[in-house]
Amino acid sequence: MTDVKQVQQQAALSLERLWPRLEITFRDDANAAPTDWCVFERRLRHEWERLFVLLIGLYGGQYDFFYHLEEILGAMAHSWLARPTWLKQLDARREAAPTWFQSQLMVGGVCYVDLFAGTLHGLRDRLLYFKKLGITYLHLMPLFESPESNSDGGYAVSSYRRVNPRLGTIEELAELAHEFQEHGISLVLDFVFNHTSDEHEWARCAKAGDHEYERFYFLFPDRAMPDAYEHALREIFPTVRHGSFTWREDISKWVWTTFNSFQWDLNYANPAVFRAMTQEMLFIANSGVEILRLDAVAFIWKRLGTNCENQPEAHQIIQAFNSITRIAAPGMLFKSEAIVHPDDVLSYISTRECQISYNPLLMALLWESLATREVKLLDHSMRSRFQLPQGTAWVNYLRSHDDIGWTFDDNDARWEWIDPAGHRSFLNQFYIGRFAGSFARGVSFQENPATGDARVSGTLASLAGLEQAIQVADEQQIELAVRRILMLHSIILSIGGIPLIYLGDEFGTLNEYSFASDLYKADDSRWVHRPKADWAWRKRVENDPSSPHGHIFTELVRLIALRKQQPAIYGNETEFVETGNGHLFGYIRHGGGQRLFVIANFSEHPQEMDADRLRVYGPGFSFTDMITSHILTSERPLRLEPYQCMWLVARSAGL
Ligand code: GLC
Ligand code: GLC
Repeated sequence: MTDVKQVQQQAALSLERLWPRLEITFRDDANAAPTDWCVFERRLRHEWERLFVLLIGLYGGQYDFFYHLEEILGAMAHSWLARPTWLKQLDARREAAPTWFQSQLMVGGVCYVDLFAGTLHGLRDRLLYFKKLGITYLHLMPLFESPESNSDGGYAVSSYRRVNPRLGTIEELAELAHEFQEHGISLVLDFVFNHTSDEHEWARCAKAGDHEYERFYFLFPDRAMPDAYEHALREIFPTVRHGSFTWREDISKWVWTTFNSFQWDLNYANPAVFRAMTQEMLFIANSGVEILRLDAVAFIWKRLGTNCENQPEAHQIIQAFNSITRIAAPGMLFKSEAIVHPDDVLSYISTRECQISYNPLLMALLWESLATREVKLLDHSMRSRFQLPQGTAWVNYLRSHDDIGWTFDDNDARWEWIDPAGHRSFLNQFYIGRFAGSFARGVSFQENPATGDARVSGTLASLAGLEQAIQVADEQQIELAVRRILMLHSIILSIGGIPLIYLGDEFGTLNEYSFASDLYKADDSRWVHRPKADWAWRKRVENDPSSPHGHIFTELVRLIALRKQQPAIYGNETEFVETGNGHLFGYIRHGGGQRLFVIANFSEHPQEMDADRLRVYGPGFSFTDMITSHILTSERPLRLEPYQCMWLVARSAGL
């Protein structure tokens, strides 16, 4: 008998043994809601073999495997039965249209509840604002209970079941999710599952010497193991602390802390951790989350002698969570946060793992092209790396709450005669304003003199030149900065996938330097691009036609509306084209029987694409630029103004 056959038989036999026990446990609930129970059984039977194979692969060697398997099964049944009716209805709708998120109607926004609206209640009051902007996907930055002092912006979670009391309650969160869904806005929340805060109940128990919970983390009595691991590890926050381990005086142990010293990595080699986190995940799912952002996916499995990133088991764990979701919360999707090498980013994306993913390569290379005014690396990389498996999508963004890292592939760079290390160093210098003539005002993040590595913080507007231009009151520079900002948005809105706006950027918010005087933020420059929304200011500039901020907002609202009208933007089939001009980035989108040709000028000088190419790629002889409504023909070369982006459609299909 083959191994596969054997595991299939084991899966079937296990379910045969476990199902009757489950029926007994849940008899009353099943009798009260027989249809729901049948739906659960159908999904479970459909998915069981895949889940079993993944779990036995991860944990089959553990003496208590079968115990955990039964617990996981019980957790799924319990969670499904507790799932609110509106979510069950949504599940059915999503199952009937599993690629709903590929629609051109999708537009994402991300914000911190406190910085954007004070509380969850305040956020509900902003519903009309989100609708005005056209948002259909709202990512709220971590809002669960976390340490009062430094919590890495909420990424140190102390309870996955309680909302930070300053923001509201779990009931308010669930109400918000429901209300927003009725208005077509899907809630996105983080699943910070690589680590908990050192104040989480599990960490408290571990600190108190409870052996079961000590095994939830990586605790070591001396440096032997930390040293053995450390020589192959990358340092994530080198300016805060060297290495990936923290000495805890209170327990006389070293703790594995990949990020900050108060973020304790969870030990997924222990099936109890997987089981416990499954329960937390399902609880979050039932609060109304439609898309779960899986935080720091690359780091969740450790293997001695490796850099402990992107290990095969990390994929198995996420796939097992995916499988559990298909059974107990099937409407929910996963979004991968892997800010790593492009090959590794891709490895997390599939319908069976994470259906959507940040596109850090596009993000980094848009900034790269803006600095160099050349699109060769962007074009080269996108040609081979943009395409995704069926049924998945990119989340295309310009800025997030995090820093910018230059995650392009070294060989892609060499192919274009670019020295990767030298180029990264140039980009850092350029964006932190140390390069003569740079328009950017960024701040360095985690500069590591030992490795020469660094990343960049700063808001979209400050990095694109608006801060500097306003400071020197140079009208022409202001105009160029606004154009850069709008061109970048025109690309993420049309290239294929879900565009994600870091809220604040829609008004071209500038860097906010006051974080430096906050004890808990001073050593983390990412706070420079996390300013508090100033609604009075927003209102003022929105109605002031002379304000660059108001102009950015009005134009962005218009571009979003244009995206939604254009069926060619559906999905992520994108054909990158040779524009014949090193400053022009171009691609064709097909969808709904339409053809859209997008072309963007990354230079501050006018540029042309010749008429021959236009006849080949363009949408016909006579066409319209959706953005300006200008009518053009392929008789003449196409001329683009500085930083102009055109969305060209055939005239008959034009607006
Ligand atoms: C992710 C988050 C980042 C956080 C880290 C640790 O990368 O985006 O903000 O610091 O995970 O949770
Ligand atoms: C992410 C990345 C790292 C990033 C950090 C947060 O998971 O891997 O490069 O800078 O966490 O800033």
